[in-house]
Amino acid sequence: MNKHVVWISRPFFPDIVDRLRPHFEVRAETEELKFGSADLAKHLAGADAAIVGLAERIDAAAIAGASRLRFVANLGVGYNNLDLDALTAAGIGASNTPDVLTETVADYAWALMLAAARRVGEAERWLRDGQWRGSRFEGWLGADVHGKTIGILGMGRIGQAVARRAAGFRAQVLYHNRSRLPAEVERECAATYVDKATLLGRSDHLILVLPYTAQNHHAIGEAELKAMKPTATLVNIARGGIVDDAALARALATGEIAAAGIDVFEGEPSVHPGLLERDNIVLSPHIASASRDTRRDMAALAVDNVLAAFGHGPHAGQPPTILNPGVLADAS
Ligand code: GLV
Repeated sequence: MNKHVVWISRPFFPDIVDRLRPHFEVRAETEELKFGSADLAKHLAGADAAIVGLAERIDAAAIAGASRLRFVANLGVGYNNLDLDALTAAGIGASNTPDVLTETVADYAWALMLAAARRVGEAERWLRDGQWRGSRFEGWLGADVHGKTIGILGMGRIGQAVARRAAGFRAQVLYHNRSRLPAEVERECAATYVDKATLLGRSDHLILVLPYTAQNHHAIGEAELKAMKPTATLVNIARGGIVDDAALARALATGEIAAAGIDVFEGEPSVHPGLLERDNIVLSPHIASASRDTRRDMAALAVDNVLAAFGHGPHAGQPPTILNPGVLADAS
């Protein structure tokens, strides 16, 4: 009997890929590629399952000719690159990688916040540039994080993990979320619910952790940046498009806010030139989940989902993090 085909769009850990081989013909890319829509459609048309990265937009057009495709596993917790309605309508299951990356991404939010507030990148560039010939006592003044007010916009699993870390810094946590959290979760995170305007006005450091949706497009734009403190730091580890990057570049240039730490960009891997010109921003190439352990856990979870969707492995028949479980129920 011919094996099912799984296409893997991004190279990852060969020992984890090997777990698919007893059950699948594996077509794994061996280098990082950017797929045009025709290429993507061709790969999907030849596969029963696919493991894809966030740069692959899996929409109705991409799957129009994919008559064999039954499952798509996304290498990321955010899945705005998937048109879940189109996949569900086509009877194709989809999964993401929640939970395994929560703590690693929360660590990185703090890394960017601390680096931006304390001007780590800027100081390092200056030193490497050979400019350290003496120090000014009043040089390199940044903002404290300890004891300050940390604002979190979007209080799901990652937002809560960001909040829990504040205790060690004796920082106060305010949050805003579509829906208010149960009192016991608020207590556990020592976080106080406020409306968005209060969050913007009172946060010394504002961290964005909300999913990208049409409603959240430019949730932080010109007006929101103006509403922040001129001493504030903005951190985005969520998705490009949640911040209006042109407005952010202007706000950093005019001193409307003091600093930013940004891991995700509109139209990445392109970065708005106005951001690249600024010194008061720490920039990174969408790496918040990129610890050795977590990237392995994400890959393993994607593989587990594919195995399970085809009746293999410990979760046979029940992909552990399927986003549209109704698809499997319909198929049975
Ligand atoms: C990364 O951006 C993810 O969604 O996992």
